[in-house]
Order: sequence, then structure tokens, then C-alpha cells
Amino acid sequence: MKIAIAGTGYVGLVTGVCLAEVGHTNVVCVDIDEKKVQLMKEGVAPIYEENLEALMIKNYNLGRLDYTTDYRSAYEDAEVIMIAVGTPERSDGSANLDYIKKVAKQVAETITKDTLIVIKSTVPIGTNDDIEEYIKKNLKNNVKVEIASNPEFLSQGTAVKDTLEASRIVIGVESEWAKEVLEVVYTPFEQPIVATNRRSAEMVKYASNDFLALKISFMNDIANLCEIVGANVEDVAQGMSYDDRIGHKFLKAGIGYGGSCFPKDTKALHWLSSHNGYELKTVKAAIEVNESQKLKLVRKASQIVESFEGVKVAVLGLTFKPETDDLREAPSIPNIQYLLERGAVVTAFDPVGIENTKKIFKDSISYTTNIDEAISESEICFIMTEWKDILEYDLLNYKTKMKNPLILDGRNCYKLEDMKNLGIEYYSIGR
Ligand SMILES: NC(=O)c1ccc[n+]([C@@H]2O[C@H](COP(=O)([O-])OP(=O)(O)OC[C@H]3O[C@@H](n4cnc5c(N)ncnc54)[C@H](O)[C@@H]3O)[C@@H](O)[C@H]2O)c1
Repeated sequence: MKIAIAGTGYVGLVTGVCLAEVGHTNVVCVDIDEKKVQLMKEGVAPIYEENLEALMIKNYNLGRLDYTTDYRSAYEDAEVIMIAVGTPERSDGSANLDYIKKVAKQVAETITKDTLIVIKSTVPIGTNDDIEEYIKKNLKNNVKVEIASNPEFLSQGTAVKDTLEASRIVIGVESEWAKEVLEVVYTPFEQPIVATNRRSAEMVKYASNDFLALKISFMNDIANLCEIVGANVEDVAQGMSYDDRIGHKFLKAGIGYGGSCFPKDTKALHWLSSHNGYELKTVKAAIEVNESQKLKLVRKASQIVESFEGVKVAVLGLTFKPETDDLREAPSIPNIQYLLERGAVVTAFDPVGIENTKKIFKDSISYTTNIDEAISESEICFIMTEWKDILEYDLLNYKTKMKNPLILDGRNCYKLEDMKNLGIEYYSIGR
């Protein structure tokens, strides 16, 4: 079976590599970015994901996996084409489907065989129907074509593992044929397949992400109240977590969620809902809490220091979460902007996110992969991402290297007691 994949981002590339890894022998990944395709052919992963590069090299050398910018050669004789291009946020909060539509046009013009088109990108409910109608109307050749929805649930940072050991594979199909084809694709993964219709599958993805975003915002809301009433959100979360109905994941308070999914998927579902005359109040609340949470610590710091003008500030952690190089919607961005606008002199630490940060802040801040260097002589330190290097850092160094250390920790990395014993002025979230 020839499987072509449109888009080699976190979803497309990981999917392609894992399909080859479980035994598919003809997987071709298409991207419009020539530099990326060249890198991948040389065995270099254009994104940072654990184990990705090793599996890319292995399966490319086995001849099961290839990369190309030539979509015609990839699509024309494929039996399955998976679409994994981006669906970013528009300024009104709705999902931008231009990339998907472009691929649909390319597919309609090129396929010469019966093809199942599988949409893996996160798309608003009804998009699969619209794309099917468009492709059928614009087909150049007389072939059978159908669309199936197959939303992706991987998390960045553990994308390869999440794909090879997925909790479930959701497929939204409208025919037995589509279901059978997807069973051939996914049976080697030996994971439960949940089959629904296309609209329900599209909704499973949004409802899942929005529920997780809601869980985070709920805990952040509770954390803020904990600070006011003298409770400790970590103890509260622990107490809650013993209840199976609540579970222990996503109960950690912090400075809000970021990344390429939660922010846009909450806004897109809220937009879709309003567009259909219904207000999704819970999701709206999740969005509002997150927006205000992001700048919580810089606002706190501005109550402590008189001014940021000329103040040397260390920002530890730039990416939206650890184990990824992705900076999309990372809380570090508005925080650094806030500090720069007020004249702070910022040195930022991150183990893998510096290249992407440079695209945003250029030389307006300094960068380092060394925590000692970042905090040295600084007066304030903000922690934005709970990288292992930060969690395991020798706390005494804050005391010896910073000038009158003031630490504002947006990820609750350290024990309150340890900081108290060291005599460091330390603020975290909800404790
Ligand atoms: N990143 C995640 O963790 C994640 C998880 C689940 C679902 N999703 C969803 O999956 C989709 C893709 O997300 P991503 O983070 O992998 O995106 P991404 O931005 O990392 O990658 C998209 C890729 O598509 C390429 N592209 C654009 N137009 C193309 C075309 N016509 N043909 C071929 N390639 C083209 C781009 O060059 C880019 O490399 C989105 O809808 C997202 O919401 C993402």
C-alpha cells in the first residue's frame, strides 16, 4: 500500500516515520519546504522529538520512507493520502483552512487511482464533508475518492512514543470501504480503533483538547484563589487526584498553556459554536483564565520592583513546554515582550528553543544554553518552562550568582521550604 503524507510537521513527519516503523513499505512524505525535505533526506529531523531522527534514518535506509517536494509523484498513485498540514488561528479565532484547501486542490488534480484521503489535521466540524465535495467536483480523472477523518492525539515532546503506543485511534468514516482501508493502515499498531462518523471524529479532537485546556485553566483559577485564601494548590491537587473520576494528570498549576494546539483549538471551537448560535461558556472561561494567567508573574514582579528599566532579568525556559523546540503561543513570548517594553535587559536560557526564539526577538535579548550564565548578576529570574536542567539545578547558585535574588517561578519547580531555607525571595503559583 502506498501512503503519501502532506505536511511534515510534528504530526505528518511523526506519522510517516511511525507508519514505516510498524511495517508499511511505501511511505512518502511531502512538504513544500525544500530546505526541510533536503534535511530529512540527509537524516536530519527538522523538529526536536525524542527518537525521531533515529527512526527516520533507519526507515529511510530500509527504503520504506522517502521525502519529496514533488506532490504529483507522491499523490498520483497513492492509495491513501494523509493530510497533516497546519490549521492555524485566524484573527477572529476561526481555523484557517487555506493549507488544507491547497492540498485538496493538488490531490484533485493529480490522483489517477481510487484513493482514500485522510484528514489528520485538526479541522472544524463539517470540514471533511466540504473537502470531499470539493475534491469530487474538481477531479481530473475518473477515480473513486472518499474522505476519512483521523484526528491526531500525540503530544509534542513524546510524539513518537504517543504514536507507536497511542491510547486509541479515532477514525471518522462514512463507508465500509473507508473503514477497511484505515484498518489496513492501522492494524499493525495493535491499538484500539474507535470508528465513528466523520463529524463525531472531528468533534472528538476538539472536545478532547478543549477539555484538557479547561482542566488546566480550572486548576490555575483554583491556584489563584489558593493564594488569596492561604491554601496550597499542590496539596489540593494531590488530594483531588485520588478520585478516579478526576485523575492525577493536568492538575498542575502554572502560567498557562501554550503550544500550537490548545490556544487555537479552544478559540476555534468557541468560534464555531458562536457561528452556530450557541455559546460554549466553559471553553470561553478556559480561554479567559489562560490569557490572564500568562502575565501573572510579570505583574507580580512589577509590584515588587519599582521599575524594570535597566534591570538585568533572567528568563529560564522559552518553549511552551519541556522536550520540544516549539515556541508557538509559549507564555515566554508575551512575558519577554512585557519586560522589553519596560526596559529590562533580558538573558534567556533554553536547551533547544533558542533558534526559534531568535526568529521572534532577534538581538533584542541575549541567549544561552547555560543557566549559570543566564542568572549571573541578574536581579530577577522568571521560570517559564520546567526543563529538567532547571528542576535539577543547584539552588545555591541562585543565591551566589544573582544580585539580591528574586525568583518568580511559573512552573512550581522548587519546594517552598528549600527556597525559604536559602533565604531566597521566591514566588510561585498557588502556594
Ligand atoms: N503539533 C501537535 O502537537 C499536534 C497534535 C495533534 C494535532 N495537530 C494538528 O495537526 C495539524 C498539523 O500540525 P503540526 O504541528 O504538525 O503542523 P506544522 O506547522 O508543524 O507542519 C505543517 C507542515 O505542512 C507543510 N505544508 C504546508 N502546505 C503544504 C502543502 N500544500 N503540501 C505539503 N506540505 C505543506 C508546512 O511546510 C509544514 O512543514 C494541525 O491541524 C494541528 O492542529 C497538531
